[in-house]
Amino acid sequence: MSGNRTFTMLKPDAVENGHIGAILAKINEAGFRIVSLQMQQLSRHEAGLFYAVHKERSFYGELVDYMTSGPIVAAILEKDNAVEDFRTLIGATDPTQAAEGTIRRLFATSISANAVHGSDSNENTAIEGAFFFGAKEQF
Ligand code: CMP
Repeated sequence: MSGNRTFTMLKPDAVENGHIGAILAKINEAGFRIVSLQMQQLSRHEAGLFYAVHKERSFYGELVDYMTSGPIVAAILEKDNAVEDFRTLIGATDPTQAAEGTIRRLFATSISANAVHGSDSNENTAIEGAFFFGAKEQF
């Protein structure tokens, strides 16, 4: 996967609260092109694998509970400087610390239920994108 892509998940709180359309609109308005899009509910095994990097963190169990509590929307996005620009668009992990106008500031409910995930590097974009999408599902 090239360096102009990032991976995102709209988390169960965003889906449950009816924010899919508004968040995708923000993403499009910010200049990202949707390469892949899919709605599904993660199993505990899948959520545990996806967040394996956080396995030793105190919040890991809570994170897996939460991420399996309802459906998510997974997407691959494309734009110049995608990883960094998307992290700017979504704002800080803790929505109370997120800048005005960012997706987390607008739509998140807590540090755990923080509306969206964004890849933190090109390397993780490739890993996370491949977790959900095969080559034939990337447009
Ligand atoms: P995300 O960008 O998906 O990456 C890891 C997730 O762990 C993060 O968003 C938060 O949802 C969650 N997380 C990070 N720190 C905490 C915390 N202190 N308490 C609960 N959840 C956290």
